[in-house]
Amino acid sequence: MKVPFIDLKVQYQTIKQEISEAINNVLDNAHYILGPAVAEFENSWSSFLNIKSAVAVSSGTDALFVALKSLNIGANDEVIIPANTFIATAEAVSLVGAIPVLGDIDETTYNLDINKIEEKITSRTKAIIPVHLYGQAAEMDAIIAIARQHNLYVIEDASQAHGAEYKGKKLGTLGDLGCFSFYPGKNLGAYGEGGAVVTDNQVLAEKIYKIRDHGSNKKYHHDIIGGNFRMSGIQGAVLGVKLKYLESWNKDRRAHAKKYNSILKDVKGIVLLAEPRYSQGNYHLYVIKADKRDELQLYLAEQEIQTGIHYPVPIHLQPAYAFLNEPPGSFPAAERAANSILSLPMYPELDDNQIEYVCEKIKFFISQNLTSKNLV
Ligand SMILES: Cc1ncc(COP(=O)(O)O)c(C=O)c1O
Repeated sequence: MKVPFIDLKVQYQTIKQEISEAINNVLDNAHYILGPAVAEFENSWSSFLNIKSAVAVSSGTDALFVALKSLNIGANDEVIIPANTFIATAEAVSLVGAIPVLGDIDETTYNLDINKIEEKITSRTKAIIPVHLYGQAAEMDAIIAIARQHNLYVIEDASQAHGAEYKGKKLGTLGDLGCFSFYPGKNLGAYGEGGAVVTDNQVLAEKIYKIRDHGSNKKYHHDIIGGNFRMSGIQGAVLGVKLKYLESWNKDRRAHAKKYNSILKDVKGIVLLAEPRYSQGNYHLYVIKADKRDELQLYLAEQEIQTGIHYPVPIHLQPAYAFLNEPPGSFPAAERAANSILSLPMYPELDDNQIEYVCEKIKFFISQNLTSKNLV
């Protein structure tokens, strides 16, 4: 049985008609950039999150960049981010001219370890960017308390966390600014690039609208230096259609996670990701820790089961960030995670037979091969 890691084609078939109508509407009206479809999506996205403003931008990376810019974070500033995240979190900090300062992760949730944040704060620290990795909430109360005490901003990287919650509140709405990616593979994905910055702060929202469009809200009049971070009309239209299904797709993902958990929970050599009581995850990714991870991944590939690793190399061990001078061993939890995590197939349309098949193959591999016990 073939089990893809994600299947965007099968989902498209379920909404094809609505998508075609929405796209045709943009084309008929020639609203290629921003325009009513984007404005409508911004309204629906802010209502869904229960927040005042959502500003649609060109990608999740740009959302983070624009968010940092709006807070005047730049040269000589430091921003604390987790050591295990997608490179874009670090890149956005670098692109505004600031330095990403890494914090190790909690080994049960894979999010920022709240006990390792304060030791990273200096007089140059301006913000913390918690990343809700895999769609599970970082420990926001503690992070916000540390930030308030040290006068720092909190920018949530909610790029993987559409519709996920922390103590009943949607992720992305707890910090000063929340950033989303609508990369096609996300729980809410465009059919191209897209992102958003959300906030309750009207002054910041107005500034972000300007930064996204050359520092302007009146054509050829530029109040501040911005850039081109606009969303296309077609992406706004696609996202508007797909948003209606997000809750139901997330529910399906949670049911799949429950099924995986129930089969894998007692399997020796496999450690499941903890879902803390404060978090309702959206299971953007379903991640396990596995003994002999690389061999297991290879074996599953031979059985036509696609898996992923998010992420195989922590930020400080990427050549691009060698200048941080954080040698191997600097962030032991993130490094151990990188060597043992495996993301199993996860998308709403996955079915129970496929999940059972994946688990059966994992169990078979372990029954044949488990010899070492180097899991933490
Ligand atoms: C945690 C995280 N941050 C940032 C990004 C960047 O988003 P994008 O690919 O839309 O630029 C992504 C997604 O790829 C992500 O997963």
